[in-house]
This record gives sequence, C-alpha cells and structure tokens, in this order.
Amino acid sequence: MDSNRLSKAMQTALNSQMNKENLQAQIYLSYGCWADSEGYEGISNFLFRHSKEERDHMMKFLEYILKRGGKVAVSEIPAPSANPTSVNDCFEKVFKQEVDNTKSIYSLVKQCMEEEDWATWNFMQWFVMEQTEEENLAIELLDMIRVAGGKDASHSALFSLDKRMGERGGDARLAQEVTTDRP
Ligand code: FEO
Repeated sequence: MDSNRLSKAMQTALNSQMNKENLQAQIYLSYGCWADSEGYEGISNFLFRHSKEERDHMMKFLEYILKRGGKVAVSEIPAPSANPTSVNDCFEKVFKQEVDNTKSIYSLVKQCMEEEDWATWNFMQWFVMEQTEEENLAIELLDMIRVAGGKDASHSALFSLDKRMGERGGDARLAQEVTTDRP
C-alpha cells in the first residue's frame, strides 16, 4: 500500500525547495567568508548565523517530506555565485536572493491550492511568514548601507556598520559561541 501522502509533483517541488534552501545556506556561508577576509567581522558573523538559519529551513522541508511518507532526494549543491565586490553589493545580493526565494515559496503555495493539498498549504504558511521577515531584514540591511553612504560609504561608516551588525541577535547562535560540545 502506498503511504506517500504527497503527489509526485508536490514531492518534486518540495525536494527542489529543500535543495534551494541548502544552496542559500552555502551562499551565505561564502559571503560570510568574503566579509571576514575583507575585515568585516560583524557582517561575517551575521552571515554565518544566517547560513545556519537557511540550513534549518532545509531541515524543515526534509522533515516534512519524510513525515508525509515521501521520498527525500538530497541533490548536489551548485557552487555559490561570485563573491560580492563591496558591502553595498553584498546587501543588494542578499535582498535579490530573498526576493527570489519568496517567489519560489509563493509558487509552492499556489501549487498546494491547485492540488488542494491543504496539509502542505498549512505547512507552507510558516515559510510565507518567514519570507516576510527575511525580506524585512534584507530591506533593513539596504537602509543601513544607504545611510552609511551606499557605494561610497567611508571606512569609518563601514566600521560602525560592521560593529552594529556584530551586536545583532538572531535565531541562530553566534558562530564564535559554537563549540563541539554545543554545536
Ligand atoms: Fe530560507 Fe532566506 O530563505
């Protein structure tokens, strides 16, 4: 007896989004490395923490597919896109990425409605809310860099911005607080 409660198309779409969240995690990871190597420790730590949040999103999809009796297909992760060229470019890339992810989430919600898969529709509402928060956060980053001078931000403005970013809280713990005992 087939106990998979997801349609074939829904299973494919959920797996695709799961792998996309994993790619998002890799992109934030690579941006975090870029920021650290440029001397922006606060921004770097923020990006590392965000990478962990994206991985948590991936796990949410993975667990849901399994819970519904579906098959998980973890695919290889494409290489992250090129490193940012400046803090301004980095924050613009973050914003574009989040808007793109929102489009994918909305497309999945639409598919849920078309299939009348209300369980998955209900599951997806968390992501609809989360994307609003993530877009807000990205807009906030754009505001911060704009106030600091955008593309022409001075070293001292970037220094202050970096310091502020390092002091921010978040769902995931600071990378520097993570140990092997407390992953
Ligand atoms: Fe999982 Fe930033 O979206």
